[in-house]
Amino acid sequence: MSGDAPELAVPFDAAPLAAEPLETPRLRIRPLASADGDDVWEYQRLADVLRFIPWPERDRAEAQEHTDRRAASTVLAAAGDGIHFACELVGEPALRAGGGDRVVGDVMLRLDSVESARVEIGWVFHPGFQGRGLASEGAGAVLDLAFERLRAHRVHAILDRRNDDSARLCARLGMRLEATHLADDWFKGEWTDTEVWAVLREERTAFVAR
Ligand SMILES: CC(C)(COP(=O)(O)OP(=O)(O)OC[C@H]1O[C@@H](n2cnc3c(N)ncnc32)[C@H](O)[C@@H]1OP(=O)(O)O)[C@@H](O)C(=O)NCCC(=O)NCCS
Repeated sequence: MSGDAPELAVPFDAAPLAAEPLETPRLRIRPLASADGDDVWEYQRLADVLRFIPWPERDRAEAQEHTDRRAASTVLAAAGDGIHFACELVGEPALRAGGGDRVVGDVMLRLDSVESARVEIGWVFHPGFQGRGLASEGAGAVLDLAFERLRAHRVHAILDRRNDDSARLCARLGMRLEATHLADDWFKGEWTDTEVWAVLREERTAFVAR
């Protein structure tokens, strides 16, 4: 396979998006902030939400520390760096002090390889706001940012094979199931299968233009 040489736009700093968020029909998307702790806790504390993601059960204080850590990370420069985007539902009042719109989910981008311009995406939404296409809207906007602003060549998601909701989301975003790894992950006390879904920049462009 040939193609253009990778040209990842790193370091990529998401901080300016706090003042100039991404906007979709229903969401405002900007870097996660420590002040989002109350909103995030509302989904982070739920067993259903934790089932397929590598987050342990946390108490409120531990959850705040976790949100603080995620909020402090706004630059992608080296493999392993992550940015977490809060998805505010416009018109839904926030639970956090200070008002504003509620964070109903968040989307992560993690740099996998600078040399090969590979990026991982992940997502989590409050169950009370699922089934409305909000995750598709939020993850779609972040995926487009990964391709258009960060200039990723390929974006992938790693799923627990049993996570049908996430697999359907991948398909709705134009991602392909590339691989199924059997019993490759010792996860929450059992061997689990993982799926790798991915989309190349030109595939996403063609998918959006359909
Ligand atoms: C994965 C997850 C984000 C998917 O959320 P979701 O709300 O199902 O996804 P979407 O926002 O795309 O909504 C799609 C659903 O809403 C429906 N829908 C309603 N209005 C819609 C609209 N305007 N646009 C698109 N879908 C719409 C779709 O039919 C679909 O329903 P279906 O799955 O029964 O077919 C969510 O299940 C989650 O947070 N899970 C827990 C965390 C987790 O496991 N994360 C993944 C780690 S890899």
